[in-house]
Amino acid sequence: MIRPKTESEIELMREPCRIVKECLAYVGEHIGAGMTTKEVDDLVYRFIKAEGAEPSCLGYCGYPASACVSVNEVVVHGIPDGRVLEEGDIVSVDLCAYKNGFHGDGARTFRIGKVSAENDKLVRVTEECFFKGIEGFKAGMPLYNISYQVQQHAERNGFSVIRSYTGHGIGHEMHEDPSVPNFGRRGTGPRIEAGTVICVEPMIAAGGWRVKVLDDGWTSVMTDGKCAAHYENTLVVREDGVEILTL
Ligand code: MF3
Ligand code: CO
Repeated sequence: MIRPKTESEIELMREPCRIVKECLAYVGEHIGAGMTTKEVDDLVYRFIKAEGAEPSCLGYCGYPASACVSVNEVVVHGIPDGRVLEEGDIVSVDLCAYKNGFHGDGARTFRIGKVSAENDKLVRVTEECFFKGIEGFKAGMPLYNISYQVQQHAERNGFSVIRSYTGHGIGHEMHEDPSVPNFGRRGTGPRIEAGTVICVEPMIAAGGWRVKVLDDGWTSVMTDGKCAAHYENTLVVREDGVEILTL
């Protein structure tokens, strides 16, 4: 069931969302070649704890880290480990913070040094997909207008959208209704009431859309080995548009 938040609930959500926003910016300032994905996770853990929040991902369904750090052909849920980031890599960092009884959720894809022209475009188009997705969206509209606009922008640029993972509602739980796919038909899906808080998160691949999960049960990689990127914000649907809480 989709339950819009009250204004006082939204006020409480601002804090975990601010922490997500600032943590992603902090990672962006520090990430670089020579760093391991585990070191990225350590930055995230310490930042979130220093804000008096909890890293929602840690222990979620047994997930062993505070952030998902997904390099190149890993699309989402990369488990931080000893992998060393190299010049030319693209690295998605996805993290959630829990405070005030609510979660905030966001992701960015970072370029490590100079990346190929194709990877540069992939990262740029993935971000654009988020903004194209929410363009013109406001309360009362069918949700999959967002999905449609994300898919259009990705495919127009020669990329594909991941089918097996979606955006989601968020609140007391990290994943609430509705599910927010990155593909769909304009004019379909539930009509969204003002106050509904959702995460819109384009996951875009340079090649085909098929993914497989590695034996660790988490790491999700593109079956064709091509790169993928991820960009996510938590936002409130308003009468006259959307209000982004993690930007
Ligand atoms: N933050 C992710 C999302 O965008 C979920 C991470 S899965 C976890 O929905 F296990 F790492 F928590
Ligand atoms: Co999310």
